[in-house]
Amino acid sequence: MMTLLATSLLGEGLISYNSLAPTPWAFAKMSIRILNLSIVLIYLAVQTIHAIDEKPWLDASLPYTKRANLLLYAMNLDEKLTLVHGIGGQYVGNVPNNTRLAIPALHLQDGPQGVAGRVTNVTAFPSVLTVTAAWDPSLMELFASAIAVEQRIKGANVMLSPMINIARIPVGGRNFESMGEDPYLAARLVASYVRGVQKNGVMACAKHWANNNQEHSRMTVGTYIDERTEWEIYYPAFQAAVDADVASVMCAYNLVNGTYACENYKLLTVNLKERMGFKYFVMSDWFATHSTVQSVNAGLDQEMPDRNFFNPGALKQAISQGLVTTSRIDDMVRRILLPMFKFGLFDRTNEGTINAPAESRSHRQLAHDLAAVGTVLLKNRRGILPLREEKIASIAVIGDAAHLNPVVVGGGSGSVHPPHISTPLDGIRSRAGKSINVTYTPGGNGGNMALVEDAARKANVVIVVVGATSAEGVDRPNLLLPLAQDAMVERVAAANPNTVVVVYAPGAVLLPWKRKVAAIVCGFLPGQEAGDAIAEILFGDVNPSGKLPLTFPLSETQVATSTPIQYPGIDNREEYIEKLLVGYRWYDALKKQPLYPFGHGLSYTTFRYHRPTITLTPDDPHCRATVRIDVRNTGDRAGTEVVQLYLGFPPWTHEPPRQLKGFQRVFFEPGEIRTIEFMLDDRAFRVWDAGKGRFVVAPGRFRVFVGSSSRDVRAEAHVVIGREGVVNMMQIDLIDFWIRAFPLIGISETILRLKNSANSHNPKASGCDSRMHA
Ligand code: BGC
Repeated sequence: MMTLLATSLLGEGLISYNSLAPTPWAFAKMSIRILNLSIVLIYLAVQTIHAIDEKPWLDASLPYTKRANLLLYAMNLDEKLTLVHGIGGQYVGNVPNNTRLAIPALHLQDGPQGVAGRVTNVTAFPSVLTVTAAWDPSLMELFASAIAVEQRIKGANVMLSPMINIARIPVGGRNFESMGEDPYLAARLVASYVRGVQKNGVMACAKHWANNNQEHSRMTVGTYIDERTEWEIYYPAFQAAVDADVASVMCAYNLVNGTYACENYKLLTVNLKERMGFKYFVMSDWFATHSTVQSVNAGLDQEMPDRNFFNPGALKQAISQGLVTTSRIDDMVRRILLPMFKFGLFDRTNEGTINAPAESRSHRQLAHDLAAVGTVLLKNRRGILPLREEKIASIAVIGDAAHLNPVVVGGGSGSVHPPHISTPLDGIRSRAGKSINVTYTPGGNGGNMALVEDAARKANVVIVVVGATSAEGVDRPNLLLPLAQDAMVERVAAANPNTVVVVYAPGAVLLPWKRKVAAIVCGFLPGQEAGDAIAEILFGDVNPSGKLPLTFPLSETQVATSTPIQYPGIDNREEYIEKLLVGYRWYDALKKQPLYPFGHGLSYTTFRYHRPTITLTPDDPHCRATVRIDVRNTGDRAGTEVVQLYLGFPPWTHEPPRQLKGFQRVFFEPGEIRTIEFMLDDRAFRVWDAGKGRFVVAPGRFRVFVGSSSRDVRAEAHVVIGREGVVNMMQIDLIDFWIRAFPLIGISETILRLKNSANSHNPKASGCDSRMHA
């Protein structure tokens, strides 16, 4: 039948292109083919009807929830238990298929920066941190979608990303996989990431739930954290992933408040499933299970892989002893089946294979474009960049990371093995062309410093490339560049004032030579097209527009988590005592000047911000406020600016001084002025009320900061948010006054609770009474 199908579909053309009317012979052939095709189609239709009769869940016209239930009723206990127990195999995680019921296999593969593992013929895209630096949800979606396409070609149907743990510890080994240090930025981007993956019929996996913010003792550490900090800092990205319909969530290795994450009822069932509304399945991190009964009853739905707590024998025993109910087993299975139906796993026949070539020209181009837009220009003294070709006769490219040992991908489960890498030297050479003499001198890992200095002295401009990478399982020992790279930069800068440093790093690094060099550019881990991308930035073909998704501290001790109890923990106890003061929130609260602040990134042009205006929708139940600001490109080059909006909460809430609540990446022609609009709804004005166990709008006066980074505020306004019939503006101001005068811990939260409980009893309190003062 299949041969018949092939010949009827693939036979030679019915009508040759150089004759207008078919000959009698061609006409006969055409009739036979039509007949063949009809037989095939009827055969397939009958088969399908037959299959659907027997297996009604294969009927794609039914709602996915109904299909999952139909299948669940047809499964016996052994079949159910197979689904909740992952095994090893060709993919990093596997669940075998079931031919009796036509259940497809699950193939799970890592993929933060491209299809990971030992597979080949894949694209090494830039790291998630690089793409995050573009501050662009639509680019994040393109990026995630391209990786998912490669995953599908490779036969994977579950992609083990996004990794959305907040970059709490600057040396964290997996910061390159993350979306930075800010919950709002991560939440905005993760929604696009999940969409990008799942629209390709690949299920995404948000990981690692929760508080998996270090690698040093990741398997054993217990994190201790208060509820408000969890919900305001560490959970928003997960909530956004759930709201974007993420198919799975991976629970973490660490303990949370005394209980392992994968057997933690509060974490899995109360917070994730009940409060956040997660409908699908929780899988364990690899070998992260520690129990059968406790894990099942806490809300873990699938064990990964080859660990034996969820093997059929163990589960059957727990059921027979009455320790695990069959309805909970059904719930686990239904949670796995629901997204499998929803994302089309039952409705396709052509799955890919692990050896299939997945990379493509368009993905190389995307990897290149993303690396360029995710590059951050940290410093540019007297506009040394972009390089002016007409004025440059020679460039010395220096450093092992420039060619000998390019630093473009992260390690561990995030590592990718592309067939080729464009190194910075390759890129600069090909962009410089014949008129500029480009020399290369390795250095940084020993090397001959005399040769390095000599090369630097002889060139018009020096481009030193330095790098550090990191991997799952290990945090960096400190924030310095490894080896002798800092010393090399110092020597080069002393030899030539026109020194440009390109930094590739998995997160923040210290740059002790910052004042001695002319320019600094950071691309984090830029992927296989690093070289061409950096050449475009250096020569000005692309105007840099990246903004830091995390703070670069001035020293190791300046960071928020510098005491041992905070990191790496004492006796496996790691306390999040900095609470909400993570990343820039810490530097702002303590008025510390970092090396480079969150949101920082220069351009080859300049932007002028005008005064913002705020309009409020009267009686809007969602407190909607629209902030408008005109921004002008005051330079003579086109450029892109990421306009950032931060809110300063009323003091009695004890929130950090500034919090990102809006951003927009906007392109400007030279001289162009554009009106940027931010819509703030009640989510922007909320704080977590631990007493109520939910977010509540915090009434009071909010400061609105609009600017080019968290520290480069160009315009300010304020808005007052109240609750109709509960507190008037005057009362709020008085409360603010007393709390400022007596900042006793607890008072503000009590008042907040009083206000909100008063509000909830007020039948008229339908919305926010909001006023504006720009
Ligand atoms: C990592 C996960 C990863 C898994 C499978 C674990 O060690 O923590 O992020 O998905 O391995 O490779």
